[in-house]
Amino acid sequence: MRFGLMANAASVAAVLSLWSSSTGALAAGQDPLSPTGRFSTYATAAAPTPPMGWNPWNAFRTDVDEAKVRGSALALVDTGLAAKGYRYVNIDDGWALRRLDDGTLRIRDSMFPSSKVANSRTGSFKPFTNYLHGLGLKAGIYSDIGPNTCAQRWDAQSPNLPEGSVKERQVGSFGHAAKDIEQIFGTWRFDYIKIDACGVADYTPDVEPVKSGRFAAFSPYIIRNDIPASQPDKVEALYATLGDAIRQWGGPEAVLSICAWGEAMAPLWAGNRGNLSRTSPDIEFNWASMLTSIDSTVDGALYAGPGHWNDPDMLAVGHGDFDLAHPDGARAHVTMWAIMAAPLLLGFDLRGAPQPLVDLVGNPEMIAVDQDVAGNQGVPYRTGNTMTVVRTLAAPGARAVALFNRGDTATSATVTWAQLGFAPGSGATVRDVWARRPLEPATDRVTMTLKPRSAMLLTLTGVPADASATPLAEIPARVHIAVDGLTPRTALPRGKFPARVNAMPDGAPIERGGRPASGIGLFANSRVEVRADGLFKRFKAIPIATGNSPVRYRVYADRALVAESATGKAIDADVRGARVIELVALASSGSGRPPMIAWSDAKLTR
Ligand code: GAL
Repeated sequence: MRFGLMANAASVAAVLSLWSSSTGALAAGQDPLSPTGRFSTYATAAAPTPPMGWNPWNAFRTDVDEAKVRGSALALVDTGLAAKGYRYVNIDDGWALRRLDDGTLRIRDSMFPSSKVANSRTGSFKPFTNYLHGLGLKAGIYSDIGPNTCAQRWDAQSPNLPEGSVKERQVGSFGHAAKDIEQIFGTWRFDYIKIDACGVADYTPDVEPVKSGRFAAFSPYIIRNDIPASQPDKVEALYATLGDAIRQWGGPEAVLSICAWGEAMAPLWAGNRGNLSRTSPDIEFNWASMLTSIDSTVDGALYAGPGHWNDPDMLAVGHGDFDLAHPDGARAHVTMWAIMAAPLLLGFDLRGAPQPLVDLVGNPEMIAVDQDVAGNQGVPYRTGNTMTVVRTLAAPGARAVALFNRGDTATSATVTWAQLGFAPGSGATVRDVWARRPLEPATDRVTMTLKPRSAMLLTLTGVPADASATPLAEIPARVHIAVDGLTPRTALPRGKFPARVNAMPDGAPIERGGRPASGIGLFANSRVEVRADGLFKRFKAIPIATGNSPVRYRVYADRALVAESATGKAIDADVRGARVIELVALASSGSGRPPMIAWSDAKLTR
């Protein structure tokens, strides 16, 4: 039996090594399920907390100019928002006029007059980035992994599209990654780049802009909403090349924002390749669209942490259902972004911005939740139209809680001590973040009435259930799903995360012996990295699996095997001093998805 299982595991590993995405940390040919001793995310010097700032896209799309951008930059400083952390000023699509015959990019100087410099064919963004840096701000810019950008495909009426021949209008980075990044970071001194992916998705031979000869055909790497037909490894490889160049020219603090909308198995590899990973299509200025952004992000706690954040898109505050006339909607929107540890990128015209909106996005207690240094994304619990999202904060016993009513009728929502990890019967202080005042202390649960389409944001400080143990469910930022057991063919649909906190991959609760348990649910044939930083003595868990196929579980501490187990058999492993603990589950999966498993009650003790 045991022998047969090992043989299966070996063949699984062989299959997996054919599918070598997510294995950035591995040498070619290495078994992706063998331990690496590394926490293999991108770079933690960049974006240690979710980036905050402003981007003109939601306010102006490509109808942007330097005066508008400089005006909003100045307003960030004048309103005090910059001092509160809103420091990135990121220009979006529309700035590139054409690609010159030597491969360099020419700036649209009608949009950025300061870029006109004597004897330069390209123009220079140096005066612009100098201006921002002089204000104490950071400068961000935009590109695409394909030959062309998104506005070229989707904003055909824009007055600011690239000009010239088909080739000259190829202002995306495809085939030019190293040179473009050198120009952008090395010469122009940007600090941040958002790199879109329309160029490898939306220029198929059958679409009118290509058929008409205006754009060259690109055999797509991303087929939207169809992962099995997409080529995730190629998408990942393009971002990997760009990421390497960004570190080379921009240094360790340069930020790479991946904009692949959760397509092409982005959750699997984006945390290894960049600092932000867009999870959804573009946010529109209505409630339903915002819900789509939330639903594509809120289960992704295991995919976020210092240096690698889920990105449900820029804030739509100031527009449509989130404008001055919809204060509850705007507050609910920001509440959910803060609890999800999302980037806070403002997208309304800050010149003469209404004070209530400035106050909303400037609420220091909300910002403290979003920017909490532990970097844990909140974990959701759903009941009907409400969602309770619990985020473990860095201070001992501290939690943030969002109580969210997505529906159109008033209701109430509750957070329980079990969800908070507080000792039963113990008391906790409760604070209303938006009102910035304490509420009555509570025991066992907090229940709040919620208006339609609204949210409350609370912070609580209480007594952890077990002072000597840290459940993995409370430190998702320290957990990285290095291998998730899926292939492009067996991948979950876009917007679904293969590994979840306190839930199985299909969303069912983790259950042991008919009782709910905490832990991490995912598929077998997976490898999970836990950043322990030498802080813990033991790792404990009871691995469980769905179905009857045998699964083997292995625990490694800095690459040394410290425990082997089977389904239902408790693990209590010595991990004293280990920097990285790896959890491997091995099963035979045939051609389908491996069985779902959970590291139930997984915890580290001191
Ligand atoms: C989209 C992207 C938007 C914006 C736009 C520019 O793909 O998701 O955030 O950057 O392209 O054309």
